[in-house]
Amino acid sequence: MVKLTGLKKIKTAVFISGAGSNLKNLIKFSKIKKSPISIGLIFSNTPKAKGLRYSNQFNIKKYVASFKNSKIAEEKILNLLKKESIEFICLAGFMKILSKGFIKKFNGKIVNIHPSLLPKYKGLDTHIKAIQNKDKLAGCTVHSVTAKLDSGKIILQKKVKISKKDTPASLAKKVLSQEHKLYPAAIKRIFN
Ligand code: GRF
Repeated sequence: MVKLTGLKKIKTAVFISGAGSNLKNLIKFSKIKKSPISIGLIFSNTPKAKGLRYSNQFNIKKYVASFKNSKIAEEKILNLLKKESIEFICLAGFMKILSKGFIKKFNGKIVNIHPSLLPKYKGLDTHIKAIQNKDKLAGCTVHSVTAKLDSGKIILQKKVKISKKDTPASLAKKVLSQEHKLYPAAIKRIFN
């Protein structure tokens, strides 16, 4: 008789373009027994992404493909995702927009973390906009990915107070530390 020792984790790819602090945080989260995901692949559209170093550090496969020709890049990624049996994608500072065709063909869940309280401030420069508009609150959002930028269903949000002394850089730092709490919490909410 087969003894069930626990549920199988959902094999996940993390897409990055930069520092990868959310990636590192998700890798650490994935190693907790109660985490619903395991990280099986790191993808970057640029070899310059500093977060790629976590591939060696945590022994996770990495793949880099330029999005200069996004159609070719997406085809290559889709093949790899299939080969690696990836069922879930977390975008974490990924600076490219995935096509409608990619989202449909992947046929799995894709989520993103965005450094604003969506639907406010889609796109770039969220912290500059929040400070310029004299907002009292900023924050971060984990949402489902659709073909429309930063517009999919909101899964979870976390608010952060903006103080009078905040600069875009200090606010980014405050929000990022909340992102590291929010992303795992949102993933738990999706799968539990
Ligand atoms: C985060 O603020 C994320 O919300 C945004 O880009 C930043 C990426 O940071 N999309 P990191 O690469 O995870 O450190």
